[in-house]
Amino acid sequence: MTLASIIAFMFAVSASLSSSAAAAFTPQDNYLINCGSIETTTVDNRDFKGDSSAPASAFLSAAGSSSVSVKNPNSYPGLSDLYRTARVFTSVSKYEFGVTKNGTHMVRLHFFAFNSQNHDMGNARFNVSVNGYPILSDFSVDRPKSGEIGALVKEFFMDVEGGKVVVEFTPLGRSGIAFAFVNAIEAISAPDDLIVSGAKLVGPSGIANYDGNGGLRSKFLETVHRINVGGEKITPFNDTLWRNWIPDEQFLVLKNAAKRVSRSAPLKYQAGGATREIAPDQVYSTAQEMNKDNVIDNVRFNITWDFPLSPGNARYFVRLHFCDIVSTAVGQLYFNAYISNYSAIMDLDLSSVTSNSLATPYYMDFVVDSNSANSIRVSVGPSKLSLPARVNAILNGIEIMKIMNDDGLASQVVSKKKLTWILLGAILGGFVFICFLVLAFLLMRKCMKKKKPKQKPAESAAWSPLTVRGSSYTKVSEGTTTASLAHNLGLKISFAEIQYATNSFDKKLIIGSGGFGMVFKGVLQDGTKVAVKRGVPGSRQGLPEFQTEITVLSKIRHRHLVSLIGYCEEQSEMILVYEFMEKGALKSHLYGTGTRPLSWKQRLDICIGSARGLHYLHTGSAQGIIHRDVKSTNILLDENHVAKVADFGLSRAGPCLDETHVSTGVKGSFGYLDPEYFKRQQLTDKSDVYSFGVVLFEVLCARPAIDPLLSREQVNLAEWAMLWQKRGMLEQIVDPFLKGKIKPDSLRKFGDTAAKCLADYGVDRPTMGDVLWNLEYALQLQETGMSREPHEDSSTNASQIPVPTLIPRAPSTNVRIDEYNTDQSSSDMSTSKVFSQLITSEGR
Ligand SMILES: *[C@@H]1O[C@H](CO)[C@@H](O)[C@H](O)[C@H]1NC(C)=O
Ligand SMILES: *[C@@H]1O[C@H](CO)[C@@H](O)[C@H](O)[C@H]1NC(C)=O
Ligand SMILES: *[C@@H]1O[C@H](CO)[C@@H](O)[C@H](O)[C@H]1NC(C)=O
Ligand SMILES: *[C@@H]1O[C@H](CO)[C@@H](O)[C@H](O)[C@H]1NC(C)=O
Ligand SMILES: *[C@@H]1O[C@H](CO)[C@@H](O)[C@H](O)[C@H]1NC(C)=O
Repeated sequence: MTLASIIAFMFAVSASLSSSAAAAFTPQDNYLINCGSIETTTVDNRDFKGDSSAPASAFLSAAGSSSVSVKNPNSYPGLSDLYRTARVFTSVSKYEFGVTKNGTHMVRLHFFAFNSQNHDMGNARFNVSVNGYPILSDFSVDRPKSGEIGALVKEFFMDVEGGKVVVEFTPLGRSGIAFAFVNAIEAISAPDDLIVSGAKLVGPSGIANYDGNGGLRSKFLETVHRINVGGEKITPFNDTLWRNWIPDEQFLVLKNAAKRVSRSAPLKYQAGGATREIAPDQVYSTAQEMNKDNVIDNVRFNITWDFPLSPGNARYFVRLHFCDIVSTAVGQLYFNAYISNYSAIMDLDLSSVTSNSLATPYYMDFVVDSNSANSIRVSVGPSKLSLPARVNAILNGIEIMKIMNDDGLASQVVSKKKLTWILLGAILGGFVFICFLVLAFLLMRKCMKKKKPKQKPAESAAWSPLTVRGSSYTKVSEGTTTASLAHNLGLKISFAEIQYATNSFDKKLIIGSGGFGMVFKGVLQDGTKVAVKRGVPGSRQGLPEFQTEITVLSKIRHRHLVSLIGYCEEQSEMILVYEFMEKGALKSHLYGTGTRPLSWKQRLDICIGSARGLHYLHTGSAQGIIHRDVKSTNILLDENHVAKVADFGLSRAGPCLDETHVSTGVKGSFGYLDPEYFKRQQLTDKSDVYSFGVVLFEVLCARPAIDPLLSREQVNLAEWAMLWQKRGMLEQIVDPFLKGKIKPDSLRKFGDTAAKCLADYGVDRPTMGDVLWNLEYALQLQETGMSREPHEDSSTNASQIPVPTLIPRAPSTNVRIDEYNTDQSSSDMSTSKVFSQLITSEGR
């Protein structure tokens, strides 16, 4: 043996000693009882003493109790000795354990409902209390399934100040028959820092310190979920406090949103962060991070988990465990966390709270009300501070415990001391509110000043319907529901129902395709016609778009926005179900197919409808949403030619009050892309206005936004149309079908509006509201004093079938007849790819 190998060996020994020493927490109070047994059973190096013999029998005071053992041990191969016996109570009975250390104690009760000679444990019904506080009420245990050898372990935390831990069992039911049972009990003191005050209460009114009359420490807690996120199951053998941790996969709302990461190098524990007792190394050295495979730019999305709860309203303690095992340097990872849709953590830079060190375990405590929801939703997502190349979010572990003696009402009892704080809070709050008002006023004034020069006198009337077209035009602010109500309530649709609706994805029902996958026509069981967009099964392609679409569309309903009826994420499928739009995409009515050309009035109505939809997105109740991919394939028509904007896969929240834009990687479609957005990567709602301007010219000229077969100056519709608009000769390039049918005033108004949308700078472009008003005006100009167009009648004869337009057609490969190609087509995909590459190489 060389000296080096001896030294290496010594290091190895001391390392293993120190790590096992660190892991070995020795509880001062440590009662481990093997109920109904005379023998001591050793499980995971811990001795559970039989309560049928001294000394453990001394803890028990039971008038009517008996030891029972499993009748057929052979039917449970591998069953732990701990669960081969149980104690059965036929009257109120208790265990009393003396406490030598004040503070948090853990009580675990193990139940394995076997059959004994005289009892079927599955029939037991009972209450259990600890120190008089009810922890299990009307409790019963399911019989183990054949071959199942795991016990049900109920775990509680409580504060014990002096005295004892008294665990009392009360059988329920007819006396003489009623009984309770338990197989094993643990009553152990917890580390002092395990449950401490400082938890944050998250809720609709923001984040506050959780007090709950005495803090978390004074509460009875029942463990509901303990999860090793991104890792394996951890058994009591490997946990510092003999807990169970289970993997998170089954709770992920979108499995494809998350990706496991792990670290094999040692972690760097720091004072102020977590200790090994808070959670073991295995928890902190694995995590889930954002799955960015196949995402071509910094698309932002959340990883979300839903943790089921038992029914009823209750408060829950939620502990989130973090350890930055994904960054290569400090300051790379900024992320947010949400609990039940409330902001819990904003813009957290873990390295800033862990003394600028990476791979350092850290945890944060929260309290949230379930509000009678049947689950707690936890999400982590990137902060807006994260750099495009560093968009990420992580979670390493999560624990959820029910706070048994705080239903949220007790905390409303106002003590004198609290009243002072409340008064102080009110004064401060009032001050903040006044500041806010002043700020809002200043901002508004600034905005008004900016807009003034562009505003026309009639502007204020913009939102009331100008035209007399009755019910077909609702006020912009009114979101209306078109999808069937039953489906709106729960958006999840089972895979079976979708299979039924599409005749198991019958190829004959395909109505479109795109980068995302196929679109099928379908009919739900209730007769609703739907368009079913199915992601390539098993592929992660388009996952963020999928998630965005669900998030955006589940929040908004509007007559001029395509409704999401539901989605399905079973069996690694990503399926979106929309209301069916009978007449398909606007594009297919303009050029390229044999459909009857639309009249000028129809075209104006369609433009007005889509403008309303976009205006609602920008300003409506769902707040500023930027569509990002406005184009004629994303405007769909229903059976009455009512236009609805579709495909929110790329949309994202607009800037907040204090910002003027959102920085983002460029996405969108060639020919429609706002040049300012492309150059500066700053997204505003004016980028949608630009794209919409292109659509307006497309509608007027009936030609594609980009037509590579045309001569150089004609390829790009936006440039080509602007050229003629500036010359004041727009009528030269109008769809030949419309020649002579558009009133000059209406054409002038329409052309001016479209041209303003295409202004080089966003600030010079009108808002979607202005556009809407101007289009309404163009329609009025058309209708007043204009003789009726024959084509506006519903009855038309064959002689009115389209005259082919004079503009050369693009080849069929370019003009794809994909009415429901509401995703980026593959060509758009590669376009954005090119852009994102351009931008990343520019950035370097
Ligand atoms: C069992 O617990 C429930 C709920 O705590 C309580 O209402 C009931 O009185 C208890 N029953 C007995 C017999 O103690
Ligand atoms: C534990 O708490 C009790 C009650 O508050 C107190 O009387 C006792 O002195 C404490 N014991 C210790 C060891 O601190
Ligand atoms: C403890 O953890 C090690 C390493 O992860 C694993 O190999 C082993 O199976 C675990 N033991 C138990 C009893 O879970
Ligand atoms: C959170 O929001 C989603 C989508 O809006 C909703 O489906 C879910 O029920 C909400 N969860 C809770 C706990 O509020
Ligand atoms: C993440 O989820 C929260 C809460 O539901 C939501 O407010 C936020 O917008 C989501 N973020 C992203 C990027 O989807």
